[in-house]
Amino acid sequence: MAQLPILEFPDPRLRKVAAPVTVFDERFRTLVEDMLETMYQAEGIGLAATQVNVHQRLLVLDLSGEKDSPQVFANPEFEVIEQELHEHQEGCLSVPGFFEEVRRPRAIRVRAQDQHGKSFELEARGVLAVCIQHEIDHLDGKLFVDYLTPLKRQRIRGKLLKEQRKSA
Ligand code: NI
Repeated sequence: MAQLPILEFPDPRLRKVAAPVTVFDERFRTLVEDMLETMYQAEGIGLAATQVNVHQRLLVLDLSGEKDSPQVFANPEFEVIEQELHEHQEGCLSVPGFFEEVRRPRAIRVRAQDQHGKSFELEARGVLAVCIQHEIDHLDGKLFVDYLTPLKRQRIRGKLLKEQRKSA
């Protein structure tokens, strides 16, 4: 397994819209393994392929805290089943060090495929619903900072650019 570099806001590659996964082969499963490894190493609970500069509709999650319950979603789609908005503090491996409240629908029904291309469906609420919506946003070129005020977003952008220059 390999650890992949994670793109950081405001990198323009985070704005690309990902294409559907069409081939579920060994190479694809290696990507899934590498993304899980990258997420675990970074102490994250979710990672979208976009964040490692692979523009395919794929995301991985593990909300267990034990790093032993990986979930794989290829070509994920969701519908809202509870319109009521729920506020939750979000962070992102592509926006390191920043945590902000974001409002999203409380419950969703998700349809996706696993690493072998097998379709599945699940209902998600709470943190799982937040994470899936956050990661699907990545596949559409969207980041959680887009839900903040322009002022807040600019401030985060400025601070991260400064950090990135320092470490470049
Ligand atoms: Ni994220």
